[in-house]
Order: sequence, then structure tokens, then C-alpha cells
Amino acid sequence: MGVFASLAREHRLFSSVGLQCEFSLDREERIARRKVAEAMRVLLPALERHEEVESLLFGDADYAEREARRVLALVAAQHGEIEALRAEIEALLPNAEHCDFGRLKSGVLRLVQGLKFHFETEENLLWPFYNSLGSRSIRRSLAHEVGEKIDQMEKGMKKSWAAIADYLEKEP
Ligand SMILES: [Fe+2]
Ligand SMILES: [Fe+2]
Repeated sequence: MGVFASLAREHRLFSSVGLQCEFSLDREERIARRKVAEAMRVLLPALERHEEVESLLFGDADYAEREARRVLALVAAQHGEIEALRAEIEALLPNAEHCDFGRLKSGVLRLVQGLKFHFETEENLLWPFYNSLGSRSIRRSLAHEVGEKIDQMEKGMKKSWAAIADYLEKEP
């Protein structure tokens, strides 16, 4: 499996969890808190590892074009923003039943929106640059290693997601 196929599949998986959270947040507050906290406990650790390997993969290549370096810097800044949001939400999770609901809701919605924008930036702007780089600018062994890591993470996340998916969809 090519590295972009793995990355794209994981983007879709993250997006589906995000969509589920948006639905959950429209439910009654007590239910919304519980469902969103469960989803975040699966999403946040996987997201952290995903962003780490992406930074490694894309940061390691040698970009000759100025525009490519600008896009890379933009993506790196987005990773920083996502990390800050992740920390903000993570701090609320141990007390998800009683924390300030407005903060939890706003943090989760900002993360979901931020991820949508971030995935578009990577897929439409960064990946084509990375793809067009010559073989001297990319360490193929790293791309392969990252692809395998992403596949493993996806399997782990799907497992924990499957364990709570029924609960997220059906339980009131
Ligand atoms: Fe990313
Ligand atoms: Fe990504």
C-alpha cells in the first residue's frame, strides 16, 4: 500500500469520527458529553501519532521550490494548532461529565473544523509537491516505513473505534 493511500484512508477515518462528534454535540448535553469524550479518547492519541509521522515524512524531503516550502511551513503551523487544540481537549477529558460544556463543545468543534481544513491543505497543496519531487529529494525507505506505521495505527484505531461505534450510534 502506497504511503498516500494510507494517509488518505486515515484522513477519512479521522473525518468520520469528527462527523460523528458533530452529530453527538447536537444531542442532549449529558449524552453529548459522554459520546464526545469516548470519541476523543480514540481520536486524540491516534491523531498525535499520525501528525508525528507526517511531520517526519514531509519534513525530511528536500523541496527546491519556494512555494513548496511555503506550503510545508503552513502545514507545520497547522500541526502546531491541532496539537494545541488536542492538549486543550485532553485536559477536559478526565472530568468530561462535569467540565465546562461550552469549552468542551467549542474545543471539539474547532478541532473538527481545523482538521477538515488541514486535510484539504495537505491533500490538495502539499502532497502534489511531495509527489513531484525527484528520487534524490525523498528517502524512499522512510516513505515505506511511514506507510507501514500508518497502517498499524489505523488498525489499532479501527479496533478501538469498532469497540465504541455501536455505543456511539445506538445508545441514547
Ligand atoms: Fe497533518
Ligand atoms: Fe494528514
